[in-house]
Amino acid sequence: MKYTTLSFLALLFLITSCKTEAPQEKRTIERGLLSQKAMVVSAREEASKIGAMIMEQGGNAFDAMVATEMALAVTYPFAGNLGGGGFMVYRTANGDVGGLDYREKAPGAADKDMYLDEQGNVIPNLSTEGAMAVGVPGTISGIFAAHEKFGSMPIQKLLQPVVDLARNGYVVTENQAKRFEKYSEVFNRVNGDSTMLYSTAFAKAETVKNPALAETLERIIANGKAEFYGGETGQKMVEYIQSKGGIMTVDDLKAYEAQWRTPVTFEYDNLKIISMSPPSSGGVCLAQIMQMIEPYDVSQYGHNSEKAIQVITEAERRAYADRSFYLGDPDFVDIPIETLISDAYSTNRMDSFSWDKATPSSDVSHGEVPGYESMETTHYSIVDQFGNAIAVTTTLNGAYGSKLYVNELGFFLNNEMDDFSSKPGVPNMFGLIGAKANEIAPGKRMLSSMTPTLVEKDGKFWMTVGTPGGSTIITSVLQTILNVHEFDMGMQEAVNAPRFHHQWLPDIVMFEPNSFDKTLLESLKSKGYVPNEEVSPVIGKVDGILVLPDGTLEGGADRRGDDTAVGF
Ligand code: DON
Repeated sequence: MKYTTLSFLALLFLITSCKTEAPQEKRTIERGLLSQKAMVVSAREEASKIGAMIMEQGGNAFDAMVATEMALAVTYPFAGNLGGGGFMVYRTANGDVGGLDYREKAPGAADKDMYLDEQGNVIPNLSTEGAMAVGVPGTISGIFAAHEKFGSMPIQKLLQPVVDLARNGYVVTENQAKRFEKYSEVFNRVNGDSTMLYSTAFAKAETVKNPALAETLERIIANGKAEFYGGETGQKMVEYIQSKGGIMTVDDLKAYEAQWRTPVTFEYDNLKIISMSPPSSGGVCLAQIMQMIEPYDVSQYGHNSEKAIQVITEAERRAYADRSFYLGDPDFVDIPIETLISDAYSTNRMDSFSWDKATPSSDVSHGEVPGYESMETTHYSIVDQFGNAIAVTTTLNGAYGSKLYVNELGFFLNNEMDDFSSKPGVPNMFGLIGAKANEIAPGKRMLSSMTPTLVEKDGKFWMTVGTPGGSTIITSVLQTILNVHEFDMGMQEAVNAPRFHHQWLPDIVMFEPNSFDKTLLESLKSKGYVPNEEVSPVIGKVDGILVLPDGTLEGGADRRGDDTAVGF
């Protein structure tokens, strides 16, 4: 080849290679709160502030957890609680991981048919409203277990700011005032009209004080968790529950213990995901969905593109079918976790997937496991200055739980019993269907979807994330992780992005309102995907923290609520 031809070819190569290597236009990521050392992201500014203040005083993430959890009970009675339960997943600075289960339990007198009438039909509202809906609360046992194992500051120091907050009051946000208004008729029906709930301050978005709760917390500071599990507080609570027709006893309280559990861990690309194990379905379901979608190049398909929605929906459909059959309280049922989250099982499950047509849920049952026989929850994420990270989801179940409010003690009681399967095949308040694995038994924990999750990237802590939202919790956590990992969003962007959800039954894909293109929805419909007819409400209220490459923490506080990140 002549020199000239050669140089021409070289020039051509240079031009074309320059073209492909030309730096792509860099998208500006709109970041949430950035901080260098520590951060709390929760549903209320006051709670995030108290948690951050504890860490500024030298406390660690677990100290901050105790204070934040109780501050949410004061300022976010919608879901923050003493009368409910929850789950925490942690990763310490040296990489140890674990899970804390402080989920409610069925009272000793509970029975598998307790919500059925003589004809065997589910009695409406009995598992959701009033005293029969209440499970034995786990939250106080949970904060004491976390404190005993990892806390570094005395309980008194952690809870005093919360007592002060309850006594001095906090300003009700407009969202809260609206919700109170919405539920006031039910509060009345369940409690009579003698409670602090009728405080007009709530309706008018003014400052609300809760001296009864301040006193309850002071007794807990003085007497420890026994105050709740059998002491004056426990006795008063049980008296009130029984006076309203409930079956919980002081012995049920005495028998309650939070449990340390081994979390579910699995890999996805270069990520290691650490999430809650049963009695939450969160970790197992998240693992199943992520294993099923891993072989597909979802980042190539594009965020919320038709193909991404198809693959994710089909994986969700199959995982939720398994959830309904296999999952329940591991202290009562054998769960084939290893098989369910294995690569081989996931690959098999997606065999029936087709790009042309949705797999109807009626064609999907639980998978075969060889040898096997048998917005009103709230999430907060904390990272401390020592490198510990936690993800905590806590709940009363429905908004204000059973609506039963112990006026003398200053808190609501859960309606977590509805998370059991009252009758096989009959959906609960989240439309979830259960089977034998999640039937009611005395002392058993009801299956949850709560998915407090931590993620490592290349062996280092990278993200803490979680959300309320009942059955939509798992899929909201999934999409948030994918948004950052597959679609290069920042934490705040990932939290803000529109979400969709499928849970096997009903065979409907829920889309957040006004966020998905009409043509996209039409095209999905033509393939057999059924979008929700009614405009669905928002899906989830995700709070998370991401570690950026330079070590800075980015908070993602969901714009769908009053959620706030506070850090230093
Ligand atoms: O444990 C569960 O899965 C449910 N009790 C969570 C309830 C919930 O997230 C309500 N929030 N929207």
